[in-house]
Amino acid sequence: MRAVVYDRYGPPEVLRIEDVEAPVPKEGEVLVRVHASSVTRSDCGYRGAHPFFSRLFTGLRGPRQRIVGMELAGEVEAVGGGVTEFEAGDRVFGLRSGANAELVCVREQGALAHIPAGLTFEEAAAIPDGACIARACLRKAEPLEGTRVLVYGATGSIGTAGLQVAKALGAHVTAVGDTKRLELMRSLGADEVVDRLHEDFTRNGQTYDVIFDSVGKHSFRRARGSLGPGGVFLETDLGFMWHVPLLALASRWLGDKRVTLPIPGYTKEDMLFVKELVEAGSYRPVIDRTYSLEQVVEATRYVETGEKTGSVVLKVVA
Ligand SMILES: NC(=O)c1ccc[n+]([C@@H]2O[C@H](COP(=O)([O-])OP(=O)(O)OC[C@H]3O[C@@H](n4cnc5c(N)ncnc54)[C@H](OP(=O)(O)O)[C@@H]3O)[C@@H](O)[C@H]2O)c1
Repeated sequence: MRAVVYDRYGPPEVLRIEDVEAPVPKEGEVLVRVHASSVTRSDCGYRGAHPFFSRLFTGLRGPRQRIVGMELAGEVEAVGGGVTEFEAGDRVFGLRSGANAELVCVREQGALAHIPAGLTFEEAAAIPDGACIARACLRKAEPLEGTRVLVYGATGSIGTAGLQVAKALGAHVTAVGDTKRLELMRSLGADEVVDRLHEDFTRNGQTYDVIFDSVGKHSFRRARGSLGPGGVFLETDLGFMWHVPLLALASRWLGDKRVTLPIPGYTKEDMLFVKELVEAGSYRPVIDRTYSLEQVVEATRYVETGEKTGSVVLKVVA
């Protein structure tokens, strides 16, 4: 099968397409023929070994897992022994390392769910990473019903998800993004929007119960005055924000406002949660660009600009 592989950490150009051995599903595993995958910021971080300590998980001297990618949407090709939830022909989406490939094995109990009716494979592939991370982060501040949540960077992959998940959980959502994306943020359900290029939300006199910095471009120090009593500051970009763990600990003693340090995981529970939101009409994927698998280097360069809106999808099946 064709897959996108790399043998050393480095720039997008270390990626190449190679014919590799097809995986065979073991007990409890589902073999998925991938129709669409994506390039995420995490994929870029692992590939480039940024931050350096990510090598602790991916391999100190070089990548242990040669195939990149994590988001997938496709059709079940075969199932291993003991699998009951899925059968050949099912349309599924989820997360598994090595997803930029024609075939991938996913644990039945892992982050895998049936694709909601009406979604294309490309749309489904744009959902799992942002939605699961946003859900895991916001869980730290729940219950959200009736709270005021501000999502900073509400047009990225995690931001568009955070906005929609917070809204679905009953929050009043203020979304912050640039001038060109105000209409998008409104269309995703934001109650209020702030144009970050022309307005500083920390100076508008408003306070929030939760400030979710979904792109790692703000800081607890600057946002603290905009948190109400007991307010929570959620950070996503832990690797680069080296001080966040310290702040998370210190903020416990510095008053009633907290910084939290979510360590997101990818779970079936979160996949089922977002599937239900899509089915209820409360969540929709946002796709910036779609590339073919062969264009993975170009797609990766674009993701690394840090300027994408929503997700960048790779079409595996033309
Ligand atoms: N904790 C984890 O497990 C985890 C996992 C994955 C990713 N991450 C991190 O989470 C962050 C977000 O990931 P993502 O995939 O959502 O990113 P992304 O989709 O690449 O984010 C792009 C968005 O960031 C916004 N942006 C760019 N510069 C900005 C600035 N100076 N101020 C405010 N917004 C700005 C842009 O919005 P405008 O239109 O407003 O410019 C754009 O829509 C990344 O730093 C990533 O490394 C963390």
